[in-house]
Amino acid sequence: MKKRILTGITTTGTPHIGNYLGAIKPAINLASDFDESFYFLADYHAIIKNSDSNAVGQSVEDIALAWLSCGLDTNKSFFYRQSDVPEILELSWILSCVTAKGLMNRSHAYKSATSMNTDEEDKGITMGLFSYPVLMAADILMFNATHVPVGNDQIQHIEMTRDIAGRFNHIYKKTFELPEAIIQDKNNTVPGIDGRKMSKSYKNIIPLLSSEKQLKKSILKIVTNSLEPGDPKDTKDCTIHSLYTYFASKDEVDELTNAYKEGIGWGDAKNMLFDVINRDIAPIRNKYETLSSDKTLINDLLSDGASKVRISAKEMISNLRDSIGIKIIS
Ligand code: TRP
Repeated sequence: MKKRILTGITTTGTPHIGNYLGAIKPAINLASDFDESFYFLADYHAIIKNSDSNAVGQSVEDIALAWLSCGLDTNKSFFYRQSDVPEILELSWILSCVTAKGLMNRSHAYKSATSMNTDEEDKGITMGLFSYPVLMAADILMFNATHVPVGNDQIQHIEMTRDIAGRFNHIYKKTFELPEAIIQDKNNTVPGIDGRKMSKSYKNIIPLLSSEKQLKKSILKIVTNSLEPGDPKDTKDCTIHSLYTYFASKDEVDELTNAYKEGIGWGDAKNMLFDVINRDIAPIRNKYETLSSDKTLINDLLSDGASKVRISAKEMISNLRDSIGIKIIS
């Protein structure tokens, strides 16, 4: 059996250093351990919480460029946009018809969205949000992915996918593999400039695809305490030190730790952090600049990616239609 990884990236917001360290880089590195790898832009997931059409469109482009700039190789992996593969939506409906509503009721995302509601239980809940896990299951089962790299918050969605796949296999015939999650951010909570987990919803990000100047500006905004240069500083719970460990060698980290003891000023510590981050992302920035100067490239790559995956998507749908009794009348 072929080992296939598949992961989707919801196209909201601008990619940041936390996405890069926690998702993009590890997922790209995994490709070499698998027979096939699928990376796609989940733009139909994006419209669930975002009705700003310009923002969704811009984010598709930014996120596609981020993955390509970070080294995703479209000759070795399948790279496509969810909305370019309409068979996924067809599968989503078929799966909806075998998905227990009670299973969806138990979704953490749904429960947290309704937790503040008092009199009207489902206030503010769309069917899109409620059925989010079914669409995600369709993404995964369409290509019979065996492994799905995801963040901690997505584990339940993979369990639901297994559940839905099992139901379909049981009711009709064995069609789907039960995928396994590969948890990517176990201990990896990259802090943002205010010390909380880096996240676009906290507005505390350091953008990945920024100029050197912007990068420096974001790093200078990292919140520190008021200790003066010369005062010894604690590395524990320190955002600068923590970010540094993601980009620096062990010797470099030791060096910064010593500098803390010796009372390095926050400005100097931030400069050291800038140097290691910039060293790491300069090649990504260069690639991004080259790729984004070619206006048709992204579109060409994505439509090429979609044509490739639609071959097996169409086969899957035709097989499924046959199983459920939607057949050509002869
Ligand atoms: N829900 C995922 C997230 O927000 C994105 C996603 C959509 C996904 N479809 C997927 C991830 C399929 C893995 C597989 O992170």
